[in-house]
Amino acid sequence: MWRILISLALSLRCVKSSAGCAIHQDDSFQPDHILRVTAQDYTEACTTRYSALVNGSSPGPEIRLKEGQVSWIRVYNDMKHENTTMHWHGLTAFTAPFSDGTPAASQWPIPPGHFFDYEVKPEIGSAGTYFYHSHVGFQAVTAKGPLIVDSNHPPPIHYHAERTIILSDFFNETDKQIIDGLTSSNFTWSGETGAILVNGKSRQATNSTGSCQLASISIEPGLSYRLRFIGATALSFISLAIESHNVSIIEADGHFTKPLETDFLQIGSGQRYSVLLTAKSERELKRAKTRQFYIQLTTLARPETLTNFAVLNYLDGEAPDLRTVPSPPPLPEAKTIQGWLDYELEPLQSDNEFPGLEEVTRRIIIDVHQNVSDHVIWLQNGYDWVQNFRQSPYLVDMYNGRLQTGEMYQRAISRGDGFDNITRTFPAKIGEVLEIVWQNQGTFTNGGVDAHPFHAHGRHVYDIGGGDGQYNATENERRLKLSQPIQRDTSILYRYREKTKPLAPSGWRAWRIRVTDSGVWMYHCHILQHMVMGMQTVFLFGDLEDINAQSGPVDAGYLTYGGSAYGNSTYSPNVRHYFD
Ligand code: C2O
Ligand code: CU
Repeated sequence: MWRILISLALSLRCVKSSAGCAIHQDDSFQPDHILRVTAQDYTEACTTRYSALVNGSSPGPEIRLKEGQVSWIRVYNDMKHENTTMHWHGLTAFTAPFSDGTPAASQWPIPPGHFFDYEVKPEIGSAGTYFYHSHVGFQAVTAKGPLIVDSNHPPPIHYHAERTIILSDFFNETDKQIIDGLTSSNFTWSGETGAILVNGKSRQATNSTGSCQLASISIEPGLSYRLRFIGATALSFISLAIESHNVSIIEADGHFTKPLETDFLQIGSGQRYSVLLTAKSERELKRAKTRQFYIQLTTLARPETLTNFAVLNYLDGEAPDLRTVPSPPPLPEAKTIQGWLDYELEPLQSDNEFPGLEEVTRRIIIDVHQNVSDHVIWLQNGYDWVQNFRQSPYLVDMYNGRLQTGEMYQRAISRGDGFDNITRTFPAKIGEVLEIVWQNQGTFTNGGVDAHPFHAHGRHVYDIGGGDGQYNATENERRLKLSQPIQRDTSILYRYREKTKPLAPSGWRAWRIRVTDSGVWMYHCHILQHMVMGMQTVFLFGDLEDINAQSGPVDAGYLTYGGSAYGNSTYSPNVRHYFD
């Protein structure tokens, strides 16, 4: 009986007239963008490695979306053996509930040989710098690309032209080797990054002299540029500076900021900054006696420091020298500036939405530490979260009635830390105002401490600062009074020391967020190795009633792996149009 019912449900195709539901046949539907994920040998930094790629390269193509406008992005999984998904990093993602690209959380992954049509609609006011990346395993080390949201209005800060500069890491080992090593009872670290790639280019220390080119960014004298820096690294927290150029920060994670002049940037995995650069005039270039300048990039807070370069050139078509690596480096050695720009960077327009302390309904402290026993894992309030923890995605289980959100909430509240250890989620109700504190602690056994770029899906958070030691709300409130917090989606939990006592508090990062939209949102460290080792959590906003009210009824095709919402070469998917 059940079989018949299920197959009936799966074979029931939506009729054109039924609201919001469409069959995406080739002749009637054209996606706005097409991304094809393959796994193949690929050469970066003069080294060939088996990698997951988007449209045959890493980074993949730059996608541009318009705020307030629905775009359909079709993602093909052309890999033979791996699932994939695509996440639109930094975009608010509610109301198209299956489009956030998180396997085991908001959707079934795309099986090999299948495709999925993502419906994305950047919110009005969200124009800025983003990126997209796979959310499966270690694929995002290479499977990613820039995503820019354009506004219908001219930007509030003027510039003549813009350049996208996406940063990534290079590892010799394949994704599989890295994951196997990290999850083995015989723990093996991936190794440190071999190169900081700038728009996919760099030179490793091991590359023979002159054989491998640096990235080149061409600009013209006298113009002003918006440089969009995207921290799409797997591991690296990077300090970067441009020889003889100062810049002004004008955007952080998709929000314009009051211009803030700086001679360097610190950018962690998942973060973006736009800076305004005023190009030198002809006269200044004559005085400088060069038309090319180094961009110097250094890894921070790691046991080994790596310094790499790219070139900013004013050569007007003439070939820059992309083979010489300056020695010694032209700029001073970079050191981590703890709490860089905290309480300093302010929104361009003052923001009346910021929830003050009196509005906070609940404070959630998330203690994070590494545990070394039979495996090396990262824990949040005593628990790790990895992609295979769940049999099926939370959102699917929510629709199927298999997720008892009421009970989950009760358990989380009675534990006192807001965490439901059975489903390993932080459940919250619509209307709550959460203060979320990431509290760093020393590794259990040897007291080691790391820096972590924490990232929030769903909606941006108000970053209310960070500091050393244990979080103290009263003290932080005093500092907050003097500043205007910015919204962002990724901020750094700093490492204030390399070692402390096991489980001793050693630094915190705090956020505030209004729970306004239901959905399943991952909150996690953006370092891919740490994710694989369990440094991920899930926030579950609202319940089935809320999500139904927000998004309408669900189609059965989303609720099974490879279900009818997923297409393949012979099958056109049944897709719900959530924004129609
Ligand atoms: Cu860019 Cu969940 O990540
Ligand atoms: Cu981390």
